[in-house]
Amino acid sequence: MQLPVPRGPLTDRLFAELARPPHAFGPPPAGPYGDPCGDRYGDEEDAQLALFVCYELHYQGFDGVDDRWEWNPSVLALRERLETWFEGWLARRVSRPPAPPPREVPRALAALVASDDGPSLSAYLRGRGDAAQFREFVVHRSIYQLKEADPHTWGIPRLLGRPKAALVEIQSDEYGGGRPERMHAELFRATMRGLGLDDSYGAYLGSVPGVTFAISNVMSLFGLHRRHRGALLGHLAAFEMTSSLPNRRYSQGLRRLGGDAGARRYYDEHVQADAVHEQIAAHDMCGAFAAEHPGLAGDILYGAACALTLDRLFAEHLLGRWREGRTSLWRADAQVSMR
Ligand SMILES: [Fe+2]
Ligand SMILES: [Fe+2]
Repeated sequence: MQLPVPRGPLTDRLFAELARPPHAFGPPPAGPYGDPCGDRYGDEEDAQLALFVCYELHYQGFDGVDDRWEWNPSVLALRERLETWFEGWLARRVSRPPAPPPREVPRALAALVASDDGPSLSAYLRGRGDAAQFREFVVHRSIYQLKEADPHTWGIPRLLGRPKAALVEIQSDEYGGGRPERMHAELFRATMRGLGLDDSYGAYLGSVPGVTFAISNVMSLFGLHRRHRGALLGHLAAFEMTSSLPNRRYSQGLRRLGGDAGARRYYDEHVQADAVHEQIAAHDMCGAFAAEHPGLAGDILYGAACALTLDRLFAEHLLGRWREGRTSLWRADAQVSMR
């Protein structure tokens, strides 16, 4: 995967440093970048991409970027500033649900999901979206779905007992249960090929806006910090609890647009799998974790609320742009490269 084109002073500076062998560098000064504790830290597009690239050093890395950058103190110091900014960004957009009694966590998660009244991207793509819009949707989703499940896997060594077994059970399905061709990331690659898109990891980093990076960044933030383990589990639960029905609609939309069974398999698989995963996630994982860590029940709900809010912001972005007859991708003139 190549580093994408920088979007501002933060990524300009970071990418220039990463192109060289690992070394110490100072964090960008507060001045032109704003205050990391305020609403702005550089431009939002710039900051989301910079954070995404810092995190990606822990996943697949980049061509031409030395692997030793992963634990370089200067990168970690910059990442910490970006995370401070991003945690504030989340706090301003996501209202923290009241902490439920631990045994009420599964019910509280269900109520939170049921109360979500964001616009339905899946209803639009089932009934009205055109092929170009469906392709754009898949380009956005590829940023996460080509590493589907990886951020939540950071949670496994942070758990014990029943919640750990539940998380591993879910992740095992996400990773294909020992069959590489059934890995959800691989099924998604088939969807991309079916739509004539480039299915290589990170091919569209340069094509998506900050809100799409934020969806991945929140998972990495929760996954890479043990103090956020409650939020990580709540985030996964919200994902699983809001998946089955929308994925049925995505499959129906893709069939309407001529997608064959191979291209639709990713969505069809999730209709079944996530109907099971949502039960495991809410009860065996989050419910059991809350019983063991009553003080983290509120974090579980907050993580779920973050997932729902980002999904809403994402849907509003895409539907808003399409309503105006514009592309939802980064830069109005972005050309999505085809295979
Ligand atoms: Fe999945
Ligand atoms: Fe799932």
